[in-house]
Amino acid sequence: MPRSLFLPDLFWTHDMATGRNAAVDREDVDAWERAACSNIPLVTQWDDGRHSGTAPGAVPTSSSSMPSVVAAMLRDLDVREGTRVLEVGTGTGWNAALLAHRLGASNVVSVEIDGAVVESARTALKAAGLDAEVVHADGRDGWAPGAPYDRVVVTAGVREFSPHWLRQARPGGVVLAPWGTHYSDQDALVRLTVAEDGHARGPFLRMVEFMKLRAQRLDWNRFREYVPSFPGDADVSAGSLALADLGDRYRAARFVAGLGVPDCAHVVNPTGDGTGRVWFFDLASRSWAAAEFREPGAPALVYQSGPRRLWAEVERVLTWWAEVGRPGVDRFGLTVAPDGATHAWLDDPATGPLAFG
Ligand SMILES: C[S@@+](CC[C@H](N)C(=O)[O-])C[C@H]1O[C@@H](n2cnc3c(N)ncnc32)[C@H](O)[C@@H]1O
Repeated sequence: MPRSLFLPDLFWTHDMATGRNAAVDREDVDAWERAACSNIPLVTQWDDGRHSGTAPGAVPTSSSSMPSVVAAMLRDLDVREGTRVLEVGTGTGWNAALLAHRLGASNVVSVEIDGAVVESARTALKAAGLDAEVVHADGRDGWAPGAPYDRVVVTAGVREFSPHWLRQARPGGVVLAPWGTHYSDQDALVRLTVAEDGHARGPFLRMVEFMKLRAQRLDWNRFREYVPSFPGDADVSAGSLALADLGDRYRAARFVAGLGVPDCAHVVNPTGDGTGRVWFFDLASRSWAAAEFREPGAPALVYQSGPRRLWAEVERVLTWWAEVGRPGVDRFGLTVAPDGATHAWLDDPATGPLAFG
C-alpha cells in the first residue's frame, strides 16, 4: 500500500533533528518520489488549513507520520483478520488504508476533525480501492455508531484521555495512543487494555512525538506575559541539578519530570555548551521559575515566583527518579479511569499512583 498514493502534490519534509521543514512539489518528480519513500514525517497541512504558499506555516496541523513509527504502531496494535478498529486522526488516510488492506475496509472506521483533510483522505482511499469509512467529527467523542471496537488507535498526541475511547472499546480491547503532559511536546506511546470495570491500564512503550489533538494544543505564546520584568519579585536560590540532569527530547528524565510536576510547561534555551536558561510556567497560576546554568555541568542559579515553587518540584521528582535507579519510560505505565482521569505507576499497576518521593 504505497504511501505516495496518499500524499498531496505539495508537502513539507520535516527534519526531526533540526525541526526544519522544506517544501517539496510534485513538479520536481524525483525529489517528490524520494521524499515520499523516505522514513521521515511529511507535513501536509499548516495552521488548520488557513495557510497557503510554499513557505512553512506556524503550526503543522496534519501530516503523514514517519513510516517506521506507523509500522511499529501497527505491530503494537496486534490486529488480525476480523479485528475491528477505530482510528482517531485520519490525516492522509495511509494508516487507515494499511489497516483496511489487512482487515477488510468494513472493519475500519477513521475519524478526522478537518473537513478538507477528510475529503482528500476519502478520495485517496477510494482511488486505492479501499472503502474504509472516514467520519468528519471530533475524534475525542470516538465514533459510537461503529462501536464496539477491538482496537482504538490514536494518531495525534493526547493530553487528556477521552472516556469515549474506553467506553467504545470491548472489554479486553486495546487503546493505543501517544500521551504526555504539557511539560514538553513529546509523547510516550501507551498501550492500554480495557478491563470489565471500565478502567484501562497498560505500559508506556517508547517516546514518540505527534501533533496534538486540535483542542489539546498548548499555546506557547501565552507564557510571554508571565514575566514582565526579569527577575522581578522572584526569590533567588542555588539549585542542585545540572542542565544535563533535566534530560532531553525523547529522554525518560524529561518525561518523568512531566509526570511528577503536573500542569507545568517548560522551555529550554540552551547555548550548546552545557549552559543556558530553562523556564518553567504553571498553567493555572502565574507561578514561574527560571534556572540559569552558567557553567557546564554545574548547578543553576534559580529564580522562582508565585505560589508554586516549580523548580523545587522538578528537583524533588528528578531526585526521586535517580534514587529509584533512573528507570526508563518502558517501566512506567498509565491507568485511565472510566471518566478519563489518569495516574502513572512504576512497574506494577497495583502499586497505585506514584508519589515521586
Ligand atoms: C499525525 S496526523 C495523522 C496521520 C494519519 N494517521 C496518516 O496515516 O496519515 C494527525 C491528524 O489528527 C487530526 N486531528 C487533530 N485533532 C483531532 C480530533 N480532535 N479529532 C480527529 N482528528 C483530529 C489532524 O487534523 C491530523 O490530520
